[in-house]
Amino acid sequence: MSFILKSVDTVESISPEDFKKNYLIPRKPLIIKGLTKSWPAREKWTTAYLKEIAGELEVPLYDNAKADPSKPINSAAAHMKFGDYLDLIKREPTELRIFFFNLFKHVPSLINDVVLPKDLMGGFIESMPAMFFGGSNSVTFLHYDIDLPHLFHTHFGGRKHIILFDNKWKERLYCIPNATYALEDYDVANPDFEKFPALKGVEGYEVFLEHGDTLFMPTGMWHWMKYLDGSFSLSLRAWDASPVRKVQSIFNLAIKGGLDSLLKMAFKAPYAEFREKLAIKRAEKALAKGSPRK
Ligand SMILES: [Fe+2]
Repeated sequence: MSFILKSVDTVESISPEDFKKNYLIPRKPLIIKGLTKSWPAREKWTTAYLKEIAGELEVPLYDNAKADPSKPINSAAAHMKFGDYLDLIKREPTELRIFFFNLFKHVPSLINDVVLPKDLMGGFIESMPAMFFGGSNSVTFLHYDIDLPHLFHTHFGGRKHIILFDNKWKERLYCIPNATYALEDYDVANPDFEKFPALKGVEGYEVFLEHGDTLFMPTGMWHWMKYLDGSFSLSLRAWDASPVRKVQSIFNLAIKGGLDSLLKMAFKAPYAEFREKLAIKRAEKALAKGSPRK
């Protein structure tokens, strides 16, 4: 059994007018296969090259397990030299991932290998491109980004499987209250509708990215990702032009993130349990009401 998944529109290139009208404004995802054709990174960025320029860096690694609900999310499972990690993901499947890695801070010249798609939209947060690495079979759990950017997510060196949901489905996805992720024990690729009935009927998108493909993910979109090969991605982030969205971004970062960590530290297990129960209650209520409206 699976969710009701549609494919994402795929183009080789797109005009700024078409992008704005059909994807940016309606907040619809899009795959642009040829966006990286003008990027030196498309040819240059191999794991061998990254090892050569930054192999000695010590990096934090994360596994498939979602963090202990009573701990702040995303605590590292291990540390390793970046070069050894790149060898590992080329050699064998591993759960270990590098998450939100700012390689550009260590090697600023790398930014010259990327061309920001400023013709498509403005608002790029240029100092903060983030990189993500994963071994074959590693999974990024279902979540949306707390600061609500639009994302241009480009993949390198292999394939990645992605499932996306519009934010309007958040209750039905068992979103944890005050958090940007869902109840932990359902498998997004193969959900158990008996145990989690509100998931049945949820509509999303399914994407398979290959080397050089870019996925445009609009603000607030939920994403689950699985690396099919040892490979990596670059996320370019851009703020929405809407002032309302800006306020929501700041609110989420300053209040939601901080409050969540604070409550977790203060109340630990009882707080985790309370939130899970509330997530289930909200999901069941949304299902009974037949929301969201399509
Ligand atoms: Fe994310």
